[in-house]
Amino acid sequence: MSIHPPEPFRIKMVEPIRLISAEERADALKKAGYNVFALPAEDVFIDLLTDSGTGSMSQNQWAAMMTGDESYAGARSYFRLADAMKQIFGFEYFVPTHQGRAAENILTGLLVKPGLSIPSNMHFDTTEGNIRARGGRPVNLVADIAFDPTAQHPFKGNMDINKLRKFIREVGAENIPFGSITITNNAGGGQPVSLENIRAVSAVYREHKIPFFIDACRFAENSYFIKLREPGYENKSVAEIAREIFSLADGAWMSAKKDALVNMGGFLAVRDPELYQQICNELIMREGFVTYGGLSGRDLDALAVGLWEGMDEAYLAYRLGQTAYLMEGLHAVGVPTIEPAGGHAVYVDSGRLLPHIPHGEFPGQALSAALYLEGGIRGVEIGSVMFAYPDPDSGEMIYPKLELVRLAIPRRMYTQSHMDYVIETLGSLAKKATALRGYRITYAARFMRHFTARFEPL
Ligand SMILES: Cc1ncc(COP(=O)(O)O)c(C=O)c1O
Repeated sequence: MSIHPPEPFRIKMVEPIRLISAEERADALKKAGYNVFALPAEDVFIDLLTDSGTGSMSQNQWAAMMTGDESYAGARSYFRLADAMKQIFGFEYFVPTHQGRAAENILTGLLVKPGLSIPSNMHFDTTEGNIRARGGRPVNLVADIAFDPTAQHPFKGNMDINKLRKFIREVGAENIPFGSITITNNAGGGQPVSLENIRAVSAVYREHKIPFFIDACRFAENSYFIKLREPGYENKSVAEIAREIFSLADGAWMSAKKDALVNMGGFLAVRDPELYQQICNELIMREGFVTYGGLSGRDLDALAVGLWEGMDEAYLAYRLGQTAYLMEGLHAVGVPTIEPAGGHAVYVDSGRLLPHIPHGEFPGQALSAALYLEGGIRGVEIGSVMFAYPDPDSGEMIYPKLELVRLAIPRRMYTQSHMDYVIETLGSLAKKATALRGYRITYAARFMRHFTARFEPL
């Protein structure tokens, strides 16, 4: 595979984007309190804030939407989705949901009780939030190598099996209502999990009769990483690999806004008929009837088509190639990143790029603001703005190990020349890195402050 297979599509509908002037960008950022979340999207030239729900749908998805059946119950669209679900995932039962966290809400609402623990490689923040909201304890047991930004390992999302066994021994299987694994590991750099590891995790959960659920947002990217990197899988199709992954689990949930290539949607799938019945009852109360679950008929059709398109191997070669291309390009212009490239994003190591800016002056914030000012590009700070907190006993500030800016790539949206532009812009910032200054927070909410914080340049 060349490092950047060209886009396996051509463009027949365009959405104009524009780069506003440097003065306008400075003005927009100041009005936003120097927080890129508060920028109007129209003032952003290349938007790498998230890969969730931001991708482009294909002509076949738009065509399928025209055939959407909006019947309240038993719509044709539901049966088309059910057919794709059965073939791809193989679970006996599923319900559609409006997005991933809605599935998490239902699953945790049914299974998590105060004091119970849910292990995973790493939980995504919405999963963590849903578990905590029920008084549960989300526990991350990813292998330690995940925390070494430059360690080269093909599957840095793997769970540490010894940590998992030890954890189950300590808390007792009866206090674990379900176990989980996230593929790919979004909270840990979008790194994949090997089939060998998923098989071992499944065996441990089964041995202790703990139901095993997969957080499947990026299952297709993960499956393609397995095809590329795991011995014995090079001649298997992505569909075969995905089928093998899900055969090892008792259920799965998915934010379809990622690998199913839709702007909105999700699902919760299980094998247990009793649990399915309880899920249906919850779904009807919170999302909608069991054959639409908070989505329109046309959304179900877009999802049924998108699930297959997300597993297309020419698309996946281009997709992972594009992320790798961005990472290699950044290295060539002196911009350090987490390595290897993740499936959906490149994480710039702003701590290493801006060593003169201490944690308390937010190097990731400094870089994300500079990236917007320099080239109208929006990424997201994942560092001390997001994660620093005062020690409850001493009051001393505890800072995260890494100060990152995540550049998440929307699917089928930006071309190679957009990536070149991002590389050039970051390259010119790297040349004047020593001139960049930190920030001071002028407003912060008590929880999840990164979304609404306001700043002042130092
Ligand atoms: C791994 C993972 N799980 C769950 C979710 C939640 O999905 P949604 O945003 O559709 O609610 C996300 C979204 O980014 C995710 O990346």
